[in-house]
Parts: sequence; C-alpha cells; structure tokens
Amino acid sequence: MAAKKDSLSVKDNRTGKEYELIIKDGAINATELGKIKDENGKVTRSFDPAYMNTVCCISRISFINGDKGILEYRGYPIEQLAENSSFLEVSFLLLWGELPTKNQLKTFTKKVMTHSTYHNGLEKFVKAFRHDSHPMGMMSTLVAALSTFFPEANPAYVGANVYKDVEVRNAHIYTLLGCAPAIAAACYRHKVGKPINEPNENLGYVENFLYMMDKNTTDKDYKPHPKIVRALEILFILHAEHELNCSTAAIRHMTSSQADIYTSTAGAITALYGPRHGGANEAVLKMLEQIGCKENVPQFIRDVKDRKKMLMGFGHRVYKNHDPRATIVRKVADDVFSVVGSEPLIDIAMELEKVALSDEYFVKRKLYPNVDFYSGVIYKALGIPTEMFTVMFTLPRIAGWLSHWNEFLDDADNKIVRPRQIYKGYKRRDFVAADQREQKLQVHMKYTTPTEDKRREASLSHMQQ
Ligand code: CMC
Repeated sequence: MAAKKDSLSVKDNRTGKEYELIIKDGAINATELGKIKDENGKVTRSFDPAYMNTVCCISRISFINGDKGILEYRGYPIEQLAENSSFLEVSFLLLWGELPTKNQLKTFTKKVMTHSTYHNGLEKFVKAFRHDSHPMGMMSTLVAALSTFFPEANPAYVGANVYKDVEVRNAHIYTLLGCAPAIAAACYRHKVGKPINEPNENLGYVENFLYMMDKNTTDKDYKPHPKIVRALEILFILHAEHELNCSTAAIRHMTSSQADIYTSTAGAITALYGPRHGGANEAVLKMLEQIGCKENVPQFIRDVKDRKKMLMGFGHRVYKNHDPRATIVRKVADDVFSVVGSEPLIDIAMELEKVALSDEYFVKRKLYPNVDFYSGVIYKALGIPTEMFTVMFTLPRIAGWLSHWNEFLDDADNKIVRPRQIYKGYKRRDFVAADQREQKLQVHMKYTTPTEDKRREASLSHMQQ
C-alpha cells in the first residue's frame, strides 16, 4: 500500500497530465488549481458563488461544529458563557482571545463606558430621519457617518498604517463598542417620538442601553429591571459572534480594501439587515402574526412545503443538527415572560416547531429552529417594535465584527479580496451609432405621466410649441 500523504492526485483528462495538490488543514489552496491548465493554457478555477465549501481565512475566534450543534468562543462553550459571563467580558474574550482578569475587565468596562456618548455632531443626523425610517437603515447610515468625525483614523486620509498602532486600533474599538447602544437607543427614541436620553456610564453596558431606551423625563433614578437586563445580556452573548456569516465575511471583505472601521462596520450592518441573515428575527415575528393562531399552522406548513412560503427562523448554512443558541433562547423566553407576562405568539411558535420537527420535509433537509426563531417573540413580549429586532442583533454582533477586524489587520493573508468570475457575455463587438442600431431587446420603460405631473407636462409641451 502506498504511504499516506496529505495531498490529492489529480489527472486532467483533457491533457492527460497529473498533478499533486497539497491538503493543509483539510483544504487545498485554490491558487494551486491554477497550475492545472488546458491545451490553450487556460487556468482552472473553483466555482463557489455562495462560499458553500470555500475557506477564506484562518481564524481563532469561534468554532462551530454544525453536525453536533456546538458553538465555542475562543474555546469556551456558548452554554458556559451564557450561564456565567457578562457581555463585556465576552467581548474582551472575543477581541483578544482570553477571558479578562478582574482588573482587566474593570479597565475595559471603564474604557467602553466612557465612550457611551456618541459624537455630538451625530444628533443632527438622527433627527434628519423620518420618524418611520427603518432603524437598520438609520443604524448603518449613522455608523458610516461616524467615520467623518474621525478623519485622524481614516486610511483614506492618513494611510492604512494607522491601524498598525494597537493604541489607535483599541481607541476605535472602545469608541464604536461604547457608543453603538446610544446610537441604537436614539434610533428607537426618534422612531417613537420621544426625547433622546443621555447615557448613564455608571450602569452596566446592557443596563445602560435599556436605560437610554426607556427612561422618561419624569423618571427619577430610573433603573431597568435586573431580570430583563440579564435576559438581554444573555441574548447579547449569544449573538456576539458566529464566525464567517454573511456580515462578518462582509467586514473582512471591506477592511481588505482598507476602508476605515466605521464605514466597514456600516457595510456589515447592511449585510445583517437582510431577512436571510439578521433580519430573520423580524421576519419570524411577521410570519407568526400572519399565521395568527395554532389552528392555521398545518396550512402554513403545507404552503412551505409547496414552496409558497418560507419557515423563517428555521434552517442554517452550518447547523445541520440543532442550533445551540436556540435552546438557550427558549429558556430566556420563560424568564422574560415571568416579568412582563407571556406573549401569545409563543404558542404558535411552539406548535410550528413541533409540527416541523416531525415532518419529513424538514427532517430530510435537516432544518431546525435557529437563534432567531424565539428571539423575536422575546422582543415582542418586551414591547420592542418589530423594526428594532435586527438592531438588537446588531449591537452585540459589533463585538464579533470588531474581533474579526482586529484579527484581519494582523493576518499574514491580508490582501484585497478580489474573486474571479466566469464571463459568458458577448465576445468583442464594435460600437454602432444610435441611428443605425436595430432594436434587439424589449426593456420595460413605458412612460406614463403621473397624475400630479399632468399640468406641468401640458405646460412644458405648450411652451415648446
Ligand atoms: N423554510 C423552508 N425551506 C427551507 C428553509 C426554510 N427556512 N431553509 C432552507 N430550506 C430548504 C430549501 O428550500 C432547500 O430545499 P431544496 O434542497 O429542496 O431546494 C434546502 O432546505 C436547503 O436550503 P438552502 O437554501 O440551500 O440552505 P442555505 O444554507 O443556502 O440557507 C438559510 C440557509 C439560513 C439562508 C435558509 O435556511 C433560510 O433562508 N432560512 C430562513 C431565514 C433564517 O431564519 N435566517 C436566519 C439564520 S440564523 C441567524 C443568522 O446567523 O443570520
């Protein structure tokens, strides 16, 4: 028997040539494929539009085993962190790789909390939004706007070397992590038409966020309920990091062009916004409301199987067993209900879960509830508007994004991200003048005058006569 080797022997049947491709860490280097060329010298590439089986970095931040339903941050099981940790403790762990000592946590908390007020100039931007603007649209815009307040840390002005200085890097970690809750709370207060609250940096991170959301002008020494704070803290820990999901891949992608940290984070927020990703919690709630009652669940499941609908909050690219976060979220729901009362949509959610988990369609496709299946029900029970749900996901995920940003800045493989395409368009052709062109396609562009423009159009054509 031939000696075992960590490599693939590949025979190109077009040319008869044989190649050896090295396997390292369970992966072959895609550039190695470039050595395989056809008779015309055209290189071979791998095609993987949704990164179904493509590794794009070496990371040491979180570990997921999707078949076994395992999630670990820097080696610590998510269950233990949710049980014992605070969000800032977990953020420190994600950012720098170890749990902080008591003193380190104290200093880190101080650094983050002293940045809990956003730059004064941002308030005008908040107020410029319409009251019905989606808070995720506001969040991404406001975080992008933050970049304009820190030109001294913008590679476009001062060069990307600025982030080589760990002090500078950390200063922006404290700033962004620190003021994000104030921005989110301001979006909420603006939406509900209430005055924006100043932060109280003597409160805990999550506690201060709830304080800024809920304190009314008439409240004296207002403090959020500790059980609600703890429930939200657990949700923050669960949502903090999840390796290379769409938004985290996006921040690494954007940082690769050397965009500044605020603009890159705004890009990640945009990626999180969509219903296939962070927007799923909002979509779950809308789905549950549409179903309306337990009796309508079987019909809804039939519609999903007929591909007329999606069961939002189910399925995951990586988890093909259970999502360990979903189990913890389910427990948090009961804690929240014990304080604010139950949310009737939970019954529909539980019925959906029961029916789906015993249905061949979902079993065969390994579709289980994900973290967002129950989180929306919790936020609804807490009276948080549906549009704010994805913002509640954004805040903790900033810790994960910043950890990847930090890691990527030191990555030996830090190069600009630039995928390849397979071009199937026209071969070269020459420009044809407009009066000699044949119509080759139908583009929908029939122009009908909007009712409100009729007077103006009539006047314009009269002026031309
Ligand atoms: N409802 C019904 N069918 C589904 C669902 C669902 N939620 N998810 C996947 N499927 C089916 C899909 O139609 C496909 O069937 P077939 O092979 O017969 O065509 C099969 O399952 C595999 O699905 P896929 O779309 O190839 O899987 P994916 O890995 O590309 O997508 C996903 C993963 C999360 C985008 C998808 O499951 C989904 O859209 N789920 C609903 C949205 C959701 O809850 N997203 C939150 C994810 S967790 C939070 C986060 O990290 O963002």
